[in-house]
Amino acid sequence: MAAALARGWGAPVLATDSGSGSGRAAALAAELGGEAVESNAALAERADVVVLAHKPAQLEAVAREAQAARAVVSLLARTRLDQLRAAYPDAAVVRVQPNTPAAVGRGVTLLAEPAEEPLAGQVEDLFARVGIVERVPEAVIDAAAACSGVGPAYWALVAEAWVDAAIRRGVPAPIAQRLVTETMAGSAELLRAREHDTLRLRREVTSPGGTTARGLAALERGGLRAAFASAMDDVLGPA
Ligand SMILES: NC(=O)c1ccc[n+]([C@@H]2O[C@H](COP(=O)([O-])OP(=O)(O)OC[C@H]3O[C@@H](n4cnc5c(N)ncnc54)[C@H](OP(=O)(O)O)[C@@H]3O)[C@@H](O)[C@H]2O)c1
Repeated sequence: MAAALARGWGAPVLATDSGSGSGRAAALAAELGGEAVESNAALAERADVVVLAHKPAQLEAVAREAQAARAVVSLLARTRLDQLRAAYPDAAVVRVQPNTPAAVGRGVTLLAEPAEEPLAGQVEDLFARVGIVERVPEAVIDAAAACSGVGPAYWALVAEAWVDAAIRRGVPAPIAQRLVTETMAGSAELLRAREHDTLRLRREVTSPGGTTARGLAALERGGLRAAFASAMDDVLGPA
């Protein structure tokens, strides 16, 4: 996720993997300019804003090293503001959930409210450079992230199933892939232009008793809606 954001920002970065030896921080600095720093402590000393992009379970361990941070932006999934503030008591802290299309400037970033100003405003400007920013109450950020954060993977799976179906009926794979991707992208644009009115979009291509109606009925029979509802429940756990 860190690399996707840094690529979207397209500016030099200070990055660290805390000496894990993976070479990813160095590769990112080589790609975008900037510098790979050897430790979290050194990065916290030098950066105006520290973006946490490690695993959530590493919060306390990394915070012990990065106590010098003055401003912290957390990407950590399912990690609440009160946990972040306890880990960084001397820093301003903002919680966001971005998604990987940020790498191509089409990300969706959720920003948890109530948010600490002026840092939140600066963070909003920063993430608005790689897509849109939605401020949401912290109480719903996990459910919202179960749409936008995990969304690229869901879209990829849907695209794959659709491409496979086309290949089964004789469409060459590269053509099927282009058709599906471009149809998804174009339909998303159309939905935006139609103020997210999915029913209108469907009706525009569905004539009564026609082929699209038969295709849609097959997807409903196959349990598409129930599958999305179960996915939400499985991501979030019991309500
Ligand atoms: N992936 C997404 O779509 C997405 C969306 C929203 C939020 N997030 C959040 O973003 C965070 C990263 O997720 P990811 O999918 O990008 O995982 P990931 O690919 O495993 O990245 C984790 C990063 O943390 C680095 N790291 C490991 N130990 C560290 C340490 N002690 N100090 C500093 N950095 C350390 C790793 O460096 P090396 O591997 O180079 O050693 C790696 O760059 C998670 O908290 C996740 O909840 C992810």
